[in-house]
Amino acid sequence: MAILVTGGSGFIGSHTVVELQNAGYEVVVIDNLSNSTEKSLKRVEEITGKPVKFYKTDIRDREGLEKIFSEESIDSCIHFAGLKAVGESTEKPWEYYENNISGTLILVDVMRKHGVKNMIFSSSSTVYGDPDHVPVTEEDPVKKCTNPYGSTKAMQETIFTDIQKADPEWNIVLLRYFNPIGAHPSGKIGEDPSGIPLNIMPYITQVAVGKLPFLRVFGNDYPTPDGTGVRDYIHVVDLAKGHVKALDRIKAGCGLAIYNLGTGKGYSVLDIVKNFEEASGVKIPYEIQARRPGDIAENYCDPSKAEREMGWKAEYGIREMCAHSWNWQKNNPEGYGA
Ligand code: NAD
Ligand code: UFG
Repeated sequence: MAILVTGGSGFIGSHTVVELQNAGYEVVVIDNLSNSTEKSLKRVEEITGKPVKFYKTDIRDREGLEKIFSEESIDSCIHFAGLKAVGESTEKPWEYYENNISGTLILVDVMRKHGVKNMIFSSSSTVYGDPDHVPVTEEDPVKKCTNPYGSTKAMQETIFTDIQKADPEWNIVLLRYFNPIGAHPSGKIGEDPSGIPLNIMPYITQVAVGKLPFLRVFGNDYPTPDGTGVRDYIHVVDLAKGHVKALDRIKAGCGLAIYNLGTGKGYSVLDIVKNFEEASGVKIPYEIQARRPGDIAENYCDPSKAEREMGWKAEYGIREMCAHSWNWQKNNPEGYGA
């Protein structure tokens, strides 16, 4: 029996395929390569020494999915495929709703027709909006999102919740990721954004290799200890391992389960700069600029439910997240394009 990984050649997907293979799972990857390259999967094969079965398929391609479900014996799906750029989603809302929502509906429909009712979904801390308090727990309210990307995550959570309620044969785990950074310690796979990075860590690593002149720190007047934004950064390998643990919950017949995946610790932008400099030995010049529209002051989670119910806990600290991000960028200054 195999695990279908949609979006498996992307950043989090490729790291998850490594952990699934390491745990002995057979994996089938589908991806339309709209934001990734098959090279990541070749690197996964180098890391694990096992072949990765790959289909270049879009999750909106019903016939393509039907064929895969007929040919492979799929038991569960880990669903990463989706568009994820917050800013772009405000310019192209239709494309985001169509890709993320239609894609998910088609995938789920094909799954149920083939009797596959086990799903792990990539949700996001963005569903908590600007939380009333930190750390956030899974019991805290899902708030109205400020951008179409976030709305697609909240809608997908609702869709999965309703589907599971209507048909209790489904086992669905919604994983709310906090801020994934880092890279596989081998330096073979990592985050490879196209164009100028939007997220902080790939921006810092590109400053470190000299591709960008300095980091723009978006605001130092937030009500946080040093005035810069605070987030719960989590190593992508820990995040990937969370999916392997979630499969155990599925096997145990969890019904609907929701978990925060974070470390529970908040770090500011300047904390990240300092830790990165210490981990890499490279100075990161920065400039304080205006706040970025839509940003919130602080968000970090209480990850104790995941530990209690899944036996999962983040192991890597901020220093390793920085060291591994740097190791990936240094060895692959052009990402997979090299
Ligand atoms: P990514 O862009 O690297 O991976 C997503 C993959 O999905 C890409 O390889 C892309 O080519 C593929 N894809 C997109 N639309 C597709 C479609 N219609 N059919 C088939 N493949 C398609 O992003 P990532 O950072 O690895 O994120 C994976 C998932 O986790 C996404 O759903 C994202 O929204 C979610 N998430 C990411 C973060 C983050 O900060 N990286 C945080 C919270 C949640
Ligand atoms: N930041 C900078 N300069 C930059 C980029 C970011 O100062 O060049 C700051 C931001 O203002 C924020 C912090 O660094 O305070 C983190 O910003 P990111 O863009 O890396 O991450 P966000 O918390 O804004 O959001 C990301 C994803 C969302 C996802 C969320 C939680 O973009 O889609 O993590 O997983 F929902």
